[in-house]
Parts: sequence; structure tokens; C-alpha cells
Amino acid sequence: MGQKLAKAAPSQAEKSAQRCTNFACGSSYGLLERIYVCPRCGETLEIECSLPHPSDPSTLRRSWAAKVTSKLPRDASGVWRYHDMLPFEENAPFVTLFEGNTPVFHAPRSAKYCGLSDLRLKHQGYNPTGSFKDTGMAAAMTQAVIARARTAVCASTGNTSASLAAYAARAGLQAAVLLPRGQISAGKLAQSLDYGALVLEIDGNFDDCMRLVQEIGDDPSIYVANSINPFRIEGQKTVAFEMMEQVMWQVPDHVVVPGGNMGNSSALGKGFQELLEVGLIKRLPKLHVIQAEGAAPLARLFATLDRGKAAGGENIPETLTPVKDPQTLATAIKIGAPVSWKKALRAVLRSGGQIISVSEKEIADAKAMIGLDSIGCEPASATTVAGIKRLVTSGHIKHREDVVAVLTGHALKDTDYMIKYHSGALSLGPAAKDGSTPSQTISGAFQNAPERVAATKTAILKCLDRHRS
Ligand code: F0G
Repeated sequence: MGQKLAKAAPSQAEKSAQRCTNFACGSSYGLLERIYVCPRCGETLEIECSLPHPSDPSTLRRSWAAKVTSKLPRDASGVWRYHDMLPFEENAPFVTLFEGNTPVFHAPRSAKYCGLSDLRLKHQGYNPTGSFKDTGMAAAMTQAVIARARTAVCASTGNTSASLAAYAARAGLQAAVLLPRGQISAGKLAQSLDYGALVLEIDGNFDDCMRLVQEIGDDPSIYVANSINPFRIEGQKTVAFEMMEQVMWQVPDHVVVPGGNMGNSSALGKGFQELLEVGLIKRLPKLHVIQAEGAAPLARLFATLDRGKAAGGENIPETLTPVKDPQTLATAIKIGAPVSWKKALRAVLRSGGQIISVSEKEIADAKAMIGLDSIGCEPASATTVAGIKRLVTSGHIKHREDVVAVLTGHALKDTDYMIKYHSGALSLGPAAKDGSTPSQTISGAFQNAPERVAATKTAILKCLDRHRS
């Protein structure tokens, strides 16, 4: 009789699955199935990860911390350093541009502005393409290579497309991005062009582009890299891990993020939940999501929600009423029908957080305040500080509580917005010729317009003096 061969233990990827987020359905699919919603019921999918359960969770902390100084590409990435918590094999073809490892700043002026004793800002704009999308794209493009995809595609308000273009190029895949024509910032459009993506400008808004991407996603040659793809969420959830390391594992009372298509909030919610499951944290921070007033379908739903019934995230409404013609100068979050709203809503409810909206003026002034803290960010990111100010006023956040906000994009992503704000020329929508809809000019509280000065020493010194008082 031959000796029985010992069966190899199933790998991390073999133990993980794509699970339908609809509790009533709960179908499970293999990681290699190229699906983005449940084929049975149409709901979104989530990766059910095989998480480590060490007898002493602090061994995980120590092993992650040890990798911070590693020069190995996999360990030096702020995503792949947390491989223990991700659904990939040891020898996966990891795609990386050294994403993650983004700083956490103290922001004293913004804290005072919000009515807080302290405020910390984790700046995801310090990623390789200047936005938080890179952590998710590292994971999605790795999975695209594993799944032998040819063309990676996304709909975008500009940042996903820039990130996809860069990471697809790095992974050796063709990239095609669908953008709402004339509605994204020049900097973001330029990035997609420069990284070599095929840029398809669509006459419509982001929601139209997203619908089209879901339609063409059926084609076997296409790999959809929007945050509806659950592997994107896996990469983005690592932000929660990195944040916890940076705050020395003291769980903040509140974590605040902007909300657009709701991938980021879903990902942070999943990240914190998994840290709780593994035993690395003992409670969840309250997760708050902030939308722009003119593009706030989830904040609207949240305001009318029966909180008692929905507490814990189990009894949530089946449908969300989309905003048909979303409007905001924070173009990154100009989204009326967010695809991951249910995941985000559940995460917020589980944590005891809020979903609210803020006005264009609040966003613009908050953004300038973040600039005055020498940090800066793009407009969508500033919804956080505007939202925190509101949540302090409404008593949901207390003066001395510990608050971390996630800034999602770099200030240089949208210079046009900044120059207009500081010159008093920022306005929402052109005025109708018949005067029925006036354009709304935003009179910024912290304007800092450039001054034209004569080319003489005297004129310059006089000007400096005038500004000294
Ligand atoms: N902040 C920035 C700078 C963004 O680019 C986005 C989304 C968000 C916040 C909202 O995050 O969608 O995960 O809720 N930008 C997407 C894009 C839609 O195409 O770049 P979300």
C-alpha cells in the first residue's frame, strides 16, 4: 500500500469567497468568477475573507510594523503589507506603485474651525496618483491579472480613471475609462491621458457612465474596476489598518469620510469590522459619511430612516431614490445613484455614525481652512471638515472627542476650483438666459486673491506692509 500524501492546507485565496450582500440570498462564488453583482439576485458582492485568528493578535501588529521599513516591493506597499487580511495567494502577481503609507496630520486651525480640541487628517491624496483610489486599484489590477483579463474599464469622475490608467499600465493591461464629458477636472483628465488609457468621453453624467460600464461588463474581455468590484474594496479597507497603526491602536471616537459612489465608506467599514473580528480593536469608531447637498441621495434617505428599526444595519430599505441631475462643484462626488449605498449604510448604522450633507459654501470654506493648515486637498475631501463642523454643532461629536477624517484627493487635482475660490469667481451653474436660475456665486470666507504689483522694490515693500496688520 502506498503512503497517503498529506493534503496541503487550503490557501488563503481558496478559503475566501465572493458572497452576496443580500442576507436573504447569501450566495457564494469562487474568487475567479468574474462577476460584480450576484447573478442570482442582482445585489452587490463582498469578499468573505479568511482572516487570521492568532492566539495573540498583537503578533499581527508586530509583523505589520516590522514591514514598514522593508524594501521588498510587497512589504513596502501600504496595501500588500496587510496580505494576511487579503484574499490573495502568497505568490500572487502583486501589482504595486508603492501605494498607501500616507501621512496623518494634526490640523489645529481646522480643529478650532470645527469646534474641536484636536483633529487629525489622514491624507490619501499622498498616494501615487494623488487619490485614495490607488489602494483599491492595486488589489483590483492584481485580481485582473489573476483572472486573465485583457481590458480594465471604469466609469469615473476623474480619480478612479487616473488610478486605473496608471495601475493597468503597470499590470500590462489595456485601460479604457468612461468619463462624463466636460465634467471632470483638467488635472484628472490629463493623468488618464498621460498614463496611456483610452479615454471615452460620454455625453451624460457619471451615473450614465456607470450604467454603461455595468452593461459592457458582461463582455468576457472586460474587467470592471469600479468600486462595485469587491476586490477594490479589499485594497481600500487597508486604510483602516494603516490608520490604526498610526494612531497607536487607540480607536478614534469618530472617523469621517466623503461619500460619492460609497466604495470608500464601505471599505473603511469593512476594515474596522475585520479588525474587531480578529481582536485587534475592541470597539468600532463611529463612521460618518458626508455628501454634497446637491448630490446627497443617501443623506436624504438617512434623514428619513427609522433608526430604531435599522439599527445594526439589518433592516434597511430596499431602494434608494437617486438624484436625477446631481450638482456640486466637488465634481469627484457628483453622483446621484451610488452603487454601494447599502454596504455603506450598513457600515454606518453598525458603527452608530451619521450620513449628512453640506452646502457648496461650507465645502469651499472648509477646503480653504484645510489649506491654511498647510495641508490642502481637493474639494470633495473637504466635505469631511465641513461635516465635522456640523456634527459638532448638532452635538453628535463632542469638543474633546478623538476625530480622524480621511482626505481623499490631493489639492493639485483641481487647481481651477482653488483659483476661482480665492478670486471670488467660484459659482455653481451658469445663470439661465431668462434669469430663472441665477448662478450661485460663492463668497469665500478665506479668499486670498493674487495682487498685481508694480515691478519696483517700493511697491513690493508697500504691499507687504499693507498686509502685515
Ligand atoms: N473623494 C474623492 C476625491 C473622490 O474621487 C471620490 C470618488 C470620493 C471622495 C467618493 O468616494 O465614491 O468611494 O464614495 N470618486 C470616484 C471616481 C467616483 O470616479 O473617481 P466613494
